[in-house]
Amino acid sequence: MQAMRGGSGTAWPWRSVAITGASSGIGRALAEACAAPGVVLHLAGRDAGRLAAAAAACRARGAEVAATVLEVRDAAACARWIAGAGRIELLFANAGISGGTGGIGEPAAQARAIFETNLTGVLNTALPALEAMAAQPPGPDGVRGRIAVVASLAAFVAAPSAPAYCASKAAVQAWAEAMDGVERARGVRFHAVCPGYVRTPMTAHNPFPMPFLMDAEEAARRTLRGIARGRTRIAYPWPTYLGARLVGALPPRLRAAVFGRLPAKAASPGRE
Ligand SMILES: NC(=O)c1ccc[n+]([C@@H]2O[C@H](COP(=O)([O-])OP(=O)(O)OC[C@H]3O[C@@H](n4cnc5c(N)ncnc54)[C@H](OP(=O)(O)O)[C@@H]3O)[C@@H](O)[C@H]2O)c1
Repeated sequence: MQAMRGGSGTAWPWRSVAITGASSGIGRALAEACAAPGVVLHLAGRDAGRLAAAAAACRARGAEVAATVLEVRDAAACARWIAGAGRIELLFANAGISGGTGGIGEPAAQARAIFETNLTGVLNTALPALEAMAAQPPGPDGVRGRIAVVASLAAFVAAPSAPAYCASKAAVQAWAEAMDGVERARGVRFHAVCPGYVRTPMTAHNPFPMPFLMDAEEAARRTLRGIARGRTRIAYPWPTYLGARLVGALPPRLRAAVFGRLPAKAASPGRE
């Protein structure tokens, strides 16, 4: 596949990229990293102003941009967005929200909103994209399309401080990895992206220390490098990944005791 010079200075091969949650944080950083002359970006977000700013930044890097205000919980709107995009070589199902218990408990409305956004919202774009990709001709590398699901290292830790967030991320991480095992046969690759702490509006008010916190630009670079290398699971940074696997392996009562010593994220979904 012909390599392009991406906005980050690294050459990425994808010429048609669709991103949900492109109006902020990791999604916007992915968009800017992919932006280059000859690249078409389909950017989706909820907030029209933030989305327009992201689109302008990508156009300034030479990309052609189609920006769409999209609610990922609206399955029909997501299907229309995918159908209207034409050929997509790489989809990032990235939009997500977070929320914790505040050390008290998780409100029912928050738990539902997190699952509807982080799990059903991922399926709402990934499933129509899968069928569209399976029907399109392969690129020079033999791959018809790639679906990168942005999960989290939280997928590996059932933290009592963020039940719905951890569970929603575990679900999409497992789903993407299992789908990669079966959909390769049709020429479609899935990638489970599992970042550690990234400096974005989602983490801006976390009341606990965030080890190895990185900028969104670095997260985007690591994500794109992992996809270019064909990794099914893209987990970073490794010290946080290792810590998550170790804490995740603790017996549930011991894990709860560890988390009981830490302050919990507030009980309101980010950006809700
Ligand atoms: N930051 C971290 O440390 C971290 C670590 C691991 C994984 N992640 C995951 O990375 C992804 C991006 O998070 P971020 O840190 O970049 O957060 P962010 O800055 O808050 O961005 C979240 C994005 O998702 C969009 N979004 C939220 N709910 C949506 C909905 N119902 N419909 C459509 N779009 C919606 C937002 O749109 P608007 O801004 O337009 O409302 C925004 O573009 C999330 O899936 C998150 O769980 C983040």
